[in-house]
Amino acid sequence: MGYWKNKDILSMRGVPREAIDEVIDEAARMDARANSRVLEGKLIATLFFEASTRTRLSFQTACRRLGGKVLSVSDSKSTSMEKGETLHDTIKLVAACADAIVIRHPKEGSARLAAETADIPVINAGDGANQHPTQALLDLFTVKQRFGKIDGLSFLFIGDLKYGRTVHSLCQALSNYDVELCFYSPPALRMPIALLGELREKTRVRELDTMDLSAADVVYATRIQRERFADPAEYAKYSYEINAESLKRMKPDAVLMHPFPRVGEINTDVDKDARALYFVQEANGVPVRMALLKQILIG
Ligand code: NCD
Repeated sequence: MGYWKNKDILSMRGVPREAIDEVIDEAARMDARANSRVLEGKLIATLFFEASTRTRLSFQTACRRLGGKVLSVSDSKSTSMEKGETLHDTIKLVAACADAIVIRHPKEGSARLAAETADIPVINAGDGANQHPTQALLDLFTVKQRFGKIDGLSFLFIGDLKYGRTVHSLCQALSNYDVELCFYSPPALRMPIALLGELREKTRVRELDTMDLSAADVVYATRIQRERFADPAEYAKYSYEINAESLKRMKPDAVLMHPFPRVGEINTDVDKDARALYFVQEANGVPVRMALLKQILIG
């Protein structure tokens, strides 16, 4: 179908199911440990103006495993933006050097601005509290790998649903499927109302009053996004923990996912439980981003 060829990947809104399948199927064929020459001659710029471990490293690994080269900025302080240069002018320069841009930035809409500025594909690796579309793709890949399907599953999202961009992207992607989306968060950190309305038009949505883990096939826990709070004292009120005791309330064949970093939401006593899927999930970042880079740059 070639949906992704030369495309900017800014959000999961409107990305059709067939396009998701294209990436998931290609990722299933990828060997994340093998080196090839698929991207030989291609140069990808990874611009990370906000902290990242797995997204940055997995994009860079994916590119290198496929034989491409990487140009990297991991801190705006090391660029001319520190001297007052605009993001627009920085992107113009990078677009003149590289074949694609992967950008993470604390401001919502920054990836869109980069895409409007650059005449090469731009991939949003997280823009503020807005979107993180490639995380959604690897999350879907992980669910499909475990259950063999996505339709028919019930999802429960827990934590910071207001600022958690991975949840926003994943739910938009999931609204293509016959799924139930349940949400549990402190009232101040609910899913954005506009997004809930958008999801309700396409699939079943429920907001829960308690952290009821018993009905979900996929429990997706997220970190409270400390860096997005104006007042640190407010942040401190919202911590929660899932531990071995909480898992007794989950279905025996359910799974527990988390985009990482975890900062206390999941006790390490859960790690050995067969339902803990988060380490598999993070490892899937490499094959999924290999598949996506190939689809965008080669087709
Ligand atoms: C997430 C992010 O940066 O949005 N992490 C990730 O990319 N895997 C989640 C988070 O920071 O809480």
